Amino acid sequence: KAKPRVRQLTASLIQHLHDFARENELTVGEWMTGLELLNEAGRMSDDRRNEGQLVCDVLGLESLVDEITYKLATSAEDEPTATAILGPFWRQDAPQRAMGDTIVTGFEDKGDKTWMHGTVTDFRTGKPVEGAVLDVWHTAPNGLYEQQDEGQPDMNLRGRFTTGKDGKYDFYCLRPVPYPIPFDGPAGKILQALDRHPYRPAHIHFILTAPGYKPIVTQIFDRNSKYIEDDAVFAVKDSLLVDFKPFQGNSKADFELPYDFKLATY
Ligand code: DHB
Ligand code: FE
Repeated sequence: KAKPRVRQLTASLIQHLHDFARENELTVGEWMTGLELLNEAGRMSDDRRNEGQLVCDVLGLESLVDEITYKLATSAEDEPTATAILGPFWRQDAPQRAMGDTIVTGFEDKGDKTWMHGTVTDFRTGKPVEGAVLDVWHTAPNGLYEQQDEGQPDMNLRGRFTTGKDGKYDFYCLRPVPYPIPFDGPAGKILQALDRHPYRPAHIHFILTAPGYKPIVTQIFDRNSKYIEDDAVFAVKDSLLVDFKPFQGNSKADFELPYDFKLATY
């Protein structure tokens, strides 16, 4: 079954590459420039940097594939929480933490501590989902993920939380900031060629998994963030916009962020 699919995709890719070359009367020099860009992306990539993915993302390819995948997985009356691209900074084996814990080490003076909480429910029955694992990650106030930043401890601003019978989750994080995707490589060159900026609006990433339910890869976006209309990698969806509310009466948090996740069964 896989083989005919590989054949179809390969043949179609060749067809579109040839059309691209013909339509633009591609020169040898131009082809080599593109080739060098691919090679440079490969050379730059390791387990901390996925330049190939960044290139795909500024081209809008990961967001398009996400859209196609979501459409295939859902129907009109079947609308679980919207998905969004994974991006290049997820890490396997984020620490498992107890409900109510913080994912933050450091940044004590920042004034952007956030208490995020909500319920994971079955979107059709509205019932709470037990045993849902919420894998969360976001950037530090300097705009860097932990693996990009010597100044942060390993696995900072990441965690996995498992829901109990009530489907509820809560944890402490930071209110994220807009930040530029790494633009010192091929992805940056593409942006520059198109006079585009490298910024993404403030966002928090999630992967939700639960026994019997379809996994969801998604992000939520601060509605008031700069670049919300102009994400360098095209990931924003209306239903994923959230409001950070000023929070009084809890010395551990400056903001409160309520958000419920809705999962669909297979
Ligand atoms: C991309 C996605 C992210 O979430 C991020 O933080 C940086 C880059 C991307 O799609 O390339
Ligand atoms: Fe991100």
